[in-house]
Amino acid sequence: MEENAILKAEHLRKTFKLNSRQKRERKVLTDSLVAVDDLSLTLKPGVIYGLLGPNGAGKTTTLRMVATLLTPDKGELTYQGKPVGHNLSEYRKHLGFLTSELKLDDFFTASYTYDYMSALYGIPPEVAAKRKEEVFARFGVTPFANAQIKNLSTGMKQKVSLAISICHDPEIIIYDEPTNGLDILASRDVENFLLDLKKQGKAIVISTHIFSLVEKLCDEVGIILEGKMKLEGTLQELTKEKSLEDVFFDLVEEKQ
Ligand SMILES: Nc1ncnc2c1ncn2[C@@H]1O[C@H](COP(=O)(O)OP(=O)(O)O)[C@@H](O)[C@H]1O
Ligand SMILES: [Mg+2]
Repeated sequence: MEENAILKAEHLRKTFKLNSRQKRERKVLTDSLVAVDDLSLTLKPGVIYGLLGPNGAGKTTTLRMVATLLTPDKGELTYQGKPVGHNLSEYRKHLGFLTSELKLDDFFTASYTYDYMSALYGIPPEVAAKRKEEVFARFGVTPFANAQIKNLSTGMKQKVSLAISICHDPEIIIYDEPTNGLDILASRDVENFLLDLKKQGKAIVISTHIFSLVEKLCDEVGIILEGKMKLEGTLQELTKEKSLEDVFFDLVEEKQ
């Protein structure tokens, strides 16, 4: 799975310190928790990679490290064969990131938020305006472009977030549970959008706990349990003998 990698994340590890309340809630005595443990993944152009795992497995933590929003304790990112190191701002220009924890500001409009993000990326206003028109039309956001975010439905908010996440036409797409909280119609729009991005040759990673989403969209799958990559391969390889769901539950049972 190495050839034509655009991004490699190698041996990522992240430990969180737990305060006394967190220790009580988790019923543990240890002061820290290993959220992600020696985890590696590779992204390639035109490939959708699905990071599949239950709640608390370490998906969000992993993707936040890949997006450089969180500093790993250990591990390294390599973009186009070169270590990302301290060149964070250069690397970030190539990333489109979306997580459910990233909230749009309720009081601004979709249009204003898009313009603001485009300006942050240094995109010339004329270029940004043209692209905004295209991506808003693509997502059906256009009629709602000048409404305050707080008045939009959950699905429409997600579409605005998706539109904004690609305002700078990134090569790498990192979406954390992109269909979470969406109804079936909005989910389907998001799925189709991801397939479009794949066709455009973007390197994509999504995290999810939904088997069917992985089966529909993903070319490669990594199953993550308790911070560790338990199994990785192409969807075809993994599902040769049994369904993805069976593969997953066999792994969970093996652990116990
Ligand atoms: N800031 C934090 N402080 C302490 N523990 C955290 C923090 N963020 C995440 N965790 C813990 O790390 C583990 C992995 O979390 P997360 O990456 O959010 O999992 P997932 O996205 O797969 O549900 C969980 O046990 C979670 O509670
Ligand atoms: Mg998560």
